[in-house]
Amino acid sequence: MESITQGLLTKGFGQPSGLLGRLGGRLMAHGNAATERHAVALARPIEQDVVLFVGPGSGVGLEAAARRSAHVIGVYPSDAMLAMARRRCASALARDRLRLTVGTAARTGRPDQSVDVVISVNNLRLWPDVPAGLTELHRILCPGGRILLAAHEKWLPTALPALAHTVLAAGFTSVRSWTWQPPTRMASTAALLSAVRA
Ligand SMILES: C[S@@+](CC[C@H](N)C(=O)[O-])C[C@H]1O[C@@H](n2cnc3c(N)ncnc32)[C@H](O)[C@@H]1O
Repeated sequence: MESITQGLLTKGFGQPSGLLGRLGGRLMAHGNAATERHAVALARPIEQDVVLFVGPGSGVGLEAAARRSAHVIGVYPSDAMLAMARRRCASALARDRLRLTVGTAARTGRPDQSVDVVISVNNLRLWPDVPAGLTELHRILCPGGRILLAAHEKWLPTALPALAHTVLAAGFTSVRSWTWQPPTRMASTAALLSAVRA
């Protein structure tokens, strides 16, 4: 029974696919929208910044980022969510402010030091190897580039202080972590972490 539930959750939210993935995408677009937009506001990308969004789901955060920056990249492991993001972000795609690519946190496909801002919302616990993902994101960030991680606090892979330690170990500096309550009704508390690539 537990594995059936786990399978349904994976198809709906973790690695969205098929009908469940589309349904999960709609639920996430509503329930996670405030955190996605908050993460973009905190990262404060400017017009010239290259912004890389890891696992951006339905594209709410991508849309917000593309209003600020002309060079947004969404990295998706799942085709199902790519289709949903294409519809939501049609305007940013048409204006060439956004590109959608296939990849993961640990394999972004980007060159060294080519990104100014990395944002990841609600997918950290799905990375098979968190240190490997952080090492990759550190590699692609320019010196002085910043990373903003957000996740449901209750579903963090480790406690926030331990995550901060892992981020430091990956070579980041100025690591700050805190929690934030999204204004959406019944939304769970978000854990946030920001850091800088030295
Ligand atoms: C729970 S959804 C969150 C989506 C969106 N950020 C939000 O908050 O609504 C998790 C997303 O992470 C993506 N994902 C899963 N494994 C990943 C990985 N290893 N690297 C990057 N993204 C991943 C999935 O495609 C899925 O869309």
